[in-house]
Amino acid sequence: MCGIVGVVGREPAAPFLLDGLRRLEYRGYDSAGIAVIAPNGTLHLHRAAGKLQNLVALVTGREPHGAVGIGHTRWATHGRPSDENAHPHTDCTGRICVVHNGIIENFATLRDQLQARGHTFRSETDTEVLAHLIEEELARLAACPPASLPVTAADGRQVEGDGGRLRVAVHEALLRVQGAYALAAISLDEPHLLVGAARHAPLVVGIGDDANYLASDIPALLPRTRLVIRLREGELVALDRDRVLLYDETGRAVERLPTYVEWDQSAAEKAGYPHFTLKEIHEQPEALRRALAGRLTDGRAYLAELDGLDLSRVTRVYLVGCGTSHYAGMVAKYAWEQWLRLPVECIIGSEMRYAPPPLDEHALVIAISQSGETADTRAAAEWAARAGARTLALTNVVGSSLTQTVEASVYLYVGPEIGVVSTKAFTGQLAVLYAMGLDLAARRGTLPPEQLQELAAALAAMPERVAACLARPEPVQRIAAACVNVDHLLFIGRGVGYPTALEGALKLKEVSYIHAEGYPAGELKHGPIALVEPGKLLIALATASATYDKVLSNLEEVKARGARVVAIATEGDTAIQRHADHVLYVPAAPELLSPIVNVVPMQLLAYYAAVERGCDVDQPRNLAKSVTVE
Ligand code: AGP
Repeated sequence: MCGIVGVVGREPAAPFLLDGLRRLEYRGYDSAGIAVIAPNGTLHLHRAAGKLQNLVALVTGREPHGAVGIGHTRWATHGRPSDENAHPHTDCTGRICVVHNGIIENFATLRDQLQARGHTFRSETDTEVLAHLIEEELARLAACPPASLPVTAADGRQVEGDGGRLRVAVHEALLRVQGAYALAAISLDEPHLLVGAARHAPLVVGIGDDANYLASDIPALLPRTRLVIRLREGELVALDRDRVLLYDETGRAVERLPTYVEWDQSAAEKAGYPHFTLKEIHEQPEALRRALAGRLTDGRAYLAELDGLDLSRVTRVYLVGCGTSHYAGMVAKYAWEQWLRLPVECIIGSEMRYAPPPLDEHALVIAISQSGETADTRAAAEWAARAGARTLALTNVVGSSLTQTVEASVYLYVGPEIGVVSTKAFTGQLAVLYAMGLDLAARRGTLPPEQLQELAAALAAMPERVAACLARPEPVQRIAAACVNVDHLLFIGRGVGYPTALEGALKLKEVSYIHAEGYPAGELKHGPIALVEPGKLLIALATASATYDKVLSNLEEVKARGARVVAIATEGDTAIQRHADHVLYVPAAPELLSPIVNVVPMQLLAYYAAVERGCDVDQPRNLAKSVTVE
């Protein structure tokens, strides 16, 4: 995700801004920029696409000397990585400057309205809308005295203070915004002020000596202060160099004492988690909200990216990917064939590139790739494009190579995935594939409106269900401890439980080096049951489903041969306890959507088993985050 830094103090701002952005590089980005208010009241803005070094080179030798400024590293969502799309962004007057992390869901509507009122836009970003909204609100406030409210100083004292016009303007502007945001704003008209706000995206206040700071994350603040206040949902903060003025989403002053950060730099980059992989597993509720943001509105699924695709002649769908991305496609197949009433074929990228199916305009080929750089998936997409198929990419990286090959791209928006094994990207892929499937079903008229709404509502509830799974890792940790010396595990499932079992097995083997195999539960009798002997450990997907009773029969088959069974089951299901040695309960979910939830205990199992075995969790041996070669 993007990185935000801001400072209001007495010393030059640029050194803190550049160092802070460097300390946030781990968050992933593709352009960067800073803006500083110079002592003569002018705004110095520097932006550069690419790595931070490009920005440093741009600024070196002409560092702005002002003591108030903001900075940003951008992870592109709306608009390609470029100098023009890099933050900070300004309003028409060039006197207001904003940096932002998140997604403004209604930015297109707001942009049209602002342009109709004469505003001129210079970028493709959703963020620039914020600068113009604040401009309008400041114009409205021009005649009013700066808002003066009883406020809470950093040490909790109630003091008289002036949150400034900029703070009120930001508050009013955000009332028109839908979506996720963390932002920092400065204005030449109140050069002593730095304003921040946050909703569904992190923003932290740092309280220093003779200066106060803003940052997306604690690592940027550590060289200056360990006293921090994390903004809560909807909160807004106005900083000058002596005071921190906190407000809730209604604009009322709030009181909160700072906390002291004990972390070192490395721990801070992982937000206190021991590994990026565990951090990203726990990030999934927030990542899913970002993946679904703006795609489930008014009770229905809608992806504007599909509008440009001519799907009128499509009679068959191909979902192409590798590894975890292939398994995401396999899950989607079960849902899409029911929802779209179309045949959906899942093909591994490396197979398709050398044994492609007959393709033409009647085929929709969707290339699924978190990185957008996987060579086999890219080659398959290129083949499909040459064959005249409709082509679409589902990826997490804006402007990645895969997006150059296809007709349209749909982004995950789950933020960069640093851990090599795919976790939040997988559940993000599932969420977006489900939303896409519901949208396509609506466009094709193959599902009744009430069923579309019911499924959209169930999908919208998935972040909370995943959060519930993550809230109690202890049972999984105990099972992971029992796996330390196991040399092989079988994962079994039926229906969507089968690709979920494949993904669970892949997670375990790639991060803990324990061999594991995913198998259709109904196939046990056709061979794998020969592997079952006393003490053999099986993980079974046994949540509520049309084939639940069949899964129970499979558990009886293996238990009769002395196997130990860990069942992933639906909360409230007590019957399963007669068929399994251990039960990992997950919240109820519609069967076709259940992989989003059911995969979570298996992600945690893989992670904790790897830790128990002393493996390099974030960078498992022999693996790369993106397989850009054959
Ligand atoms: C997933 O845990 C693996 N790291 C791997 O299977 C990965 O999913 C595969 O290489 C595809 O990567 P992509 O999604 O970036 O194309």
